[in-house]
Amino acid sequence: MKNISGNPYLTSDSDGIFIDSVSFSEIVKQFKTPLLIFLENRIRENIKTFINVFSSEFENFQCFYSFKANFLSEICKIVLSEGVGAEIVGLPELKLALKLGFPSNKIIIGGPYLSKELIELSIKNHVKEIIIYDLNVLKKVNSIAKKFDIIQHISIRVNSQKYASKLGVKFDQQKLALFKNIIKDYQNVKITSILSHFSTQMNNIKQFRKNVKAIASNLKLLSDHGIDIKDINLGGGFPEANVMPQVQLKHIAKEIKCALKEFEVNYRNIYFEPGRYFIGDAGLFISKIVKVCEDRWVFINLGNHICPKFARCSLRFYNASQINEPHKYKTSIAGIIPTDQDVLAKDYFFTESLLKGDKVLVTNTGAYCLTFSNRFPYSLPKILLINDTTIKKIFNPEIDEDFSLN
Ligand SMILES: Cc1ncc(COP(=O)(O)O)c(C=O)c1O
Repeated sequence: MKNISGNPYLTSDSDGIFIDSVSFSEIVKQFKTPLLIFLENRIRENIKTFINVFSSEFENFQCFYSFKANFLSEICKIVLSEGVGAEIVGLPELKLALKLGFPSNKIIIGGPYLSKELIELSIKNHVKEIIIYDLNVLKKVNSIAKKFDIIQHISIRVNSQKYASKLGVKFDQQKLALFKNIIKDYQNVKITSILSHFSTQMNNIKQFRKNVKAIASNLKLLSDHGIDIKDINLGGGFPEANVMPQVQLKHIAKEIKCALKEFEVNYRNIYFEPGRYFIGDAGLFISKIVKVCEDRWVFINLGNHICPKFARCSLRFYNASQINEPHKYKTSIAGIIPTDQDVLAKDYFFTESLLKGDKVLVTNTGAYCLTFSNRFPYSLPKILLINDTTIKKIFNPEIDEDFSLN
């Protein structure tokens, strides 16, 4: 039995490919392509790995799943059942998290724009923290919290100092003085934590260190102005779990701990907000070759409308119809959007023979594909959740029309 794409729930042997314990040939008999599949057991395994690794390094560690990575109810329910909290960017996500039963003390809300409705619903439901990206938002939060006679806990997102990053507060002497004054006046907000999220797909310890450095330098600046913040939040940014195996994740956790010590960060609780790590390699598309062209270009019935570049997935392609053939011949893969820009991969190692109708597995598509997908006028794919031998249809465009939140 061989793993495909470094995923223990995607295997092949002489009987063919297995998606968890379901045979691939059964799936393609029952369902048309393109088809999106999620592997429940892989999601659970990824969550457990993340929690084990970080809780063995950090005593007071908490984890909030970044809903924007994948907000399908069935996926969020799995996350909830593993005891993880929710990191939310907007009103539809908050309504979903509350409906699914995420406890409000495990919900944190933050984004570059927080509408009045979002702040109100957050405060009314006693969410753990509202994360502000701009000091001006404090006034709005304070006045809504006052209306409900609540003291709302606040996290400040600071600018991670990543090149050209526009997100988060860049403290300078003027802003620090202003901040000191406003938090004295605003009686209905309490600053409890500081967040820095550096980037996506961080594979290098230097990036994690830079993030810790951003937290350390901002905490120092704030403390020099008499503002002491106890809890720290390092955001997300971890790659897919098959890209960052457990040993490497452990190494990263240890290095983060060392960096916190080296930069003299004293903290009470430490939070992370992973999205991609939990769900990225638990999602895969089954598509098929619809056209074979000269120069080893193939078109598959999937495109950037549903598998978008913007999602920054570590896409991997396998010829499922010829899975035991060597994948060592450079092939370029185009999507079906009628533009030359719809290229999924160039010079990718694939099978020598390229046949129209061959089924193609596109792995690592669990995170951000649906979030960043667009309304190009093709049918949406059916979505299945597979657990062992059970296949659950979680989205059918003929009945459900759309998976968007509203
Ligand atoms: C503030 C914040 N937290 C968490 C995440 C989740 O990141 P990832 O899915 O890369 O772990 C993001 C993603 O952009 C983010 O902006």
